[in-house]
Amino acid sequence: MIPNQWYAVAEARKLKGKPMGLERLGRKIVLWRDGSGTFRAALDRCPHRGAAPSRGKVLDGEIQCPWHGFRFGPDGVCTGMPCEGSEARIPRGMALAMLPAREAHGLLWVFHQGADCVRADPEAVPIHWFDEFADGKTGAAGSGFDWPFNYVRTLESNFDVHHFPFIHGGGRISGERVEFFEVSEANDHLRIRGQLRHEHKDKGLSFRIEYKPPAVSLLEFPGFAFVVADCPIDASNTWRYARYRQSVIRIPGIAKVLSWFALQLDFRLFQNRQDEWIMATQQPGQPDQAVDHLVGADAGTAAFTNLRHRLIREASPKQG
Ligand code: FES
Ligand SMILES: [Fe+2]
Repeated sequence: MIPNQWYAVAEARKLKGKPMGLERLGRKIVLWRDGSGTFRAALDRCPHRGAAPSRGKVLDGEIQCPWHGFRFGPDGVCTGMPCEGSEARIPRGMALAMLPAREAHGLLWVFHQGADCVRADPEAVPIHWFDEFADGKTGAAGSGFDWPFNYVRTLESNFDVHHFPFIHGGGRISGERVEFFEVSEANDHLRIRGQLRHEHKDKGLSFRIEYKPPAVSLLEFPGFAFVVADCPIDASNTWRYARYRQSVIRIPGIAKVLSWFALQLDFRLFQNRQDEWIMATQQPGQPDQAVDHLVGADAGTAAFTNLRHRLIREASPKQG
């Protein structure tokens, strides 16, 4: 994981009046909304005796652990221990381990600091997104799913167009040859434009892929585009959220329904069947530059790998 970055952990619309327990960023976390509706996140471990507060309730914006009913305010500090009476002095340290949390672009984001890293102020780190999918723009449809792959392998797949003709069966239309018009990086933002074409034709299927760290990507093809935010669950599973917008029909309402169909087609047929079928065979399960032999068409993956390694290095304390 790239440290000192915001990761999208869940869809905002799914967090209502109950706590939500999730595994993200290699840890068990609990999400809830406080009395003002503000999204809060903490490690899903009660400081009393370690049960999961996510199995409890939200009462007046406070989260209550289900085991002995201890309550915790929006800052994670314990506000009541029923077994000790209302006058009891609350010991210091009786608090949830809070995580920096923000709501943006219809998603809930948690800041990942990372162990042994240069510490960053979460408020000074922006949440990256794409204007094409800015709040208020209509006609898009989004959803999330768990993918049984390492998250770096998952991110690599966003840069991989040359599997389309083979795994998704579109070779007769698109051709198999990758030609890049642009592979550039500016301000930690990758931009890739190119086309898939037949060997002896000039024009083919155009594509645009952009990436903003740590894990937000935009993919555009003729007729539709989608933004995808990937979040590690653990070392070998990833939560993917994608929002689609088709650009063929512009009539409101119908446009959104078609975007939803594009999403269902990509998730259910392409990603959850065809991609999953082949990616399950990929060895090793995590990228290893010593054994993978990238070729010219993997320029996006190579640029992503370089950027990712640089950002990890920059967050590491200087040696010596
Ligand atoms: S473990 Fe949570 S209240 Fe006891
Ligand atoms: Fe695919």
